[in-house]
Amino acid sequence: MPNRTYFITTPIYYVNDLPHIGHMFTTTVCDALARYHRLLGEDVRFLTGTDEHGQNIERAAKREGITPLELADRVVGRYRELREKLDFSYDDFVRTTEERHTRGVREIIRRFDAAGDLYAAVHEGWYCSPCETFYTEKELAGGPGSGPDRRCPVHGTAVEWKSEENVFFRLSRYQQPLLDWYESRPQPVYPASRLNEVRSFVAGGLRDISVSRANLEWGIPFPGRPGQTVYVWLDALTNYVSALGLGSDRPEDVELYRRFWAAGDVRLHMMGKDILRFHAVYWPAFLMSAGLPLPTAVWAHGWWQRDGRKVSKSAGNVVRPDELVERFGGDSLRYFLLREMAFGQDASFSDEAVIDRYNNDLANDLGNTVSRVVTLSRSAFGGRTPYQSCGDNPLIEVAGRAAADYRAAMDDLAFQRALESLWRLLADTNQYLVAHEPWKLIKTEGPSPRLARVLWNGLEATRIVAIGLLPIMPRAAVKVLHAIGAPVPQRLDAMAWGGTPVGAELPPPAPIFPRIDKEAYVAEAKQGESGPPAARKVEPELSSVSLGAFKALAIEDDATVLAAPGPSAPPAATSVATGGFEVPGEPNLISIDTFKQVRLRIGTVRAAEPVPKSKRLLKLTVDLGDETRTVVAGIALAYRPEDLAGKQVVVVANLEPATLMGVESQGMVLAASGDGAPVLLHPGEAVPAGTEVR
Ligand code: MSP
Repeated sequence: MPNRTYFITTPIYYVNDLPHIGHMFTTTVCDALARYHRLLGEDVRFLTGTDEHGQNIERAAKREGITPLELADRVVGRYRELREKLDFSYDDFVRTTEERHTRGVREIIRRFDAAGDLYAAVHEGWYCSPCETFYTEKELAGGPGSGPDRRCPVHGTAVEWKSEENVFFRLSRYQQPLLDWYESRPQPVYPASRLNEVRSFVAGGLRDISVSRANLEWGIPFPGRPGQTVYVWLDALTNYVSALGLGSDRPEDVELYRRFWAAGDVRLHMMGKDILRFHAVYWPAFLMSAGLPLPTAVWAHGWWQRDGRKVSKSAGNVVRPDELVERFGGDSLRYFLLREMAFGQDASFSDEAVIDRYNNDLANDLGNTVSRVVTLSRSAFGGRTPYQSCGDNPLIEVAGRAAADYRAAMDDLAFQRALESLWRLLADTNQYLVAHEPWKLIKTEGPSPRLARVLWNGLEATRIVAIGLLPIMPRAAVKVLHAIGAPVPQRLDAMAWGGTPVGAELPPPAPIFPRIDKEAYVAEAKQGESGPPAARKVEPELSSVSLGAFKALAIEDDATVLAAPGPSAPPAATSVATGGFEVPGEPNLISIDTFKQVRLRIGTVRAAEPVPKSKRLLKLTVDLGDETRTVVAGIALAYRPEDLAGKQVVVVANLEPATLMGVESQGMVLAASGDGAPVLLHPGEAVPAGTEVR
């Protein structure tokens, strides 16, 4: 009997943004599932990749003065680095600029054509050039019939009536087949609440969609339609089968496609809720038209939010994984993401929450349990696991239940619950140790059978926890297994009680999760982001995605043909940053009077020194002509203190003082802070210290 196959995919990520915690999260989820299913003995294939075509990418590259492919190569490089840092175990990374992908896209379009699902028609509507988006009358700022005042709801600028001929796909034909699919069992779209949203969106009526664009250079030329380029979402969605070899007649591609798609047991697409419509409406309709099997499950998870808004480039609140990985390790970050979010719902990211989980769950609960049982066993049993195992004690039942709960939760993609069951076992193990006091037995009885039993049980329960952690924290789980003298299993069955070897060597314990000073970390992290905490600004939430998302999404790109406006159509001011495109955010205009409230002055740095215990902070003594200020700046990774004396800087002179790592900062210096190191701003020519900047 061949093993059950399990094909799992992440969305393919846009290359006009560097990876942030949101992208990393979806890949982490898929990685944990891929590892879990490999441990179940299944034939797993895990696919991820990048979405490299379209106007947004073209425009981002132009802004940087490079070609779209150069931009894509650079971002792909960052994704590859992340793979190492976070131990992602994907089997394939597909890029939409690869030949194998173009071949798949051509094949799927050939099939649409054969099914009679393509026709040419005029696509028209109110068009905003900066958004490159069509809007309906209703969605325009000012509302319908607002005459010459028709304005883009995002930019507030005038829109123009645009009409171009495109290729259309007969989506309307698939309304009933899609509705039937939503009723199929097992449920094809998760979670259930999202399935209901999708169902009512489709039940509300589907209109045909345009699947080509005219005058777009950066994309796949539409076969047989000169001057037309394949619509980016049709291009992107096809990656799931092009990467498996659709359209290729090489025997190995034919076999790969057969094994994981045509004859595959599980075909699971994972994504954030922002792009569910594309995966639960368009993609299955495309597959139906092409005569190809549908995914067995489409799963939409919630968003990581920060300051009440979705973490995204356009909201300006991104969390880049690199520093967190450097500080906590990739495994700890994976643990945090899977433990903190109730899967399917939104969750809030904060530095405080990361460090609390790290110190409490990992350093304390897990790390201390390991070092306690290892240290005692080593000293009582000559550096080895105890000589006697035990088949009769209360931990056996507890561990059996924990393992069963863990598996049930992992099967439901309830990572939080899965980890909670492992942590309950850790807590019960600690309680067991406290009740039997091996640290006393060691003194009163020495290496007695009783002490051997107690410690062996402690090691064994810890081993079961570590096996459950293999999909979540692959490196740390292996470290724990090595630390407790246990082998690294290939199968999850090893969670059954009894696997700790007797008399195995125990290496001297080394801390797996050294504690981190919370106060210092939080202060530093905040300074590193955007200046002293007092200077951070939280913008109000502009839009939320639930059913509203479907309405809002409709205005994103294919408004004229897709929008199904209903009672919950978005207000004119809804931010339209969904559909996966990074649409520039709401213009956040301030008056000149507001700006004038900020007092900017030129200062001359007289001295600079590191702030003790901080990697990022420097303490600057800045001369403002009529006074001298102490300013703490997060620039230590970019500047050496000795190079700063004499430099002129721009100081925010009327900022509330803030204490950072014990040093009071009386202002803030301005620096250009993109993704790289901060670059201090200074006047082009020397000016007297204290000069106002206006
Ligand atoms: N290129 C499209 C997807 C095409 S798939 C055929 C796209 N790319 S994206 O770069 O914008 O990535 C979107 C995905 O990143 C989301 O679906 C989600 O999986 C993940 N996330 C991005 N920001 C996120 C959060 N703030 N929180 C959680 N996940 C989020 O859309």
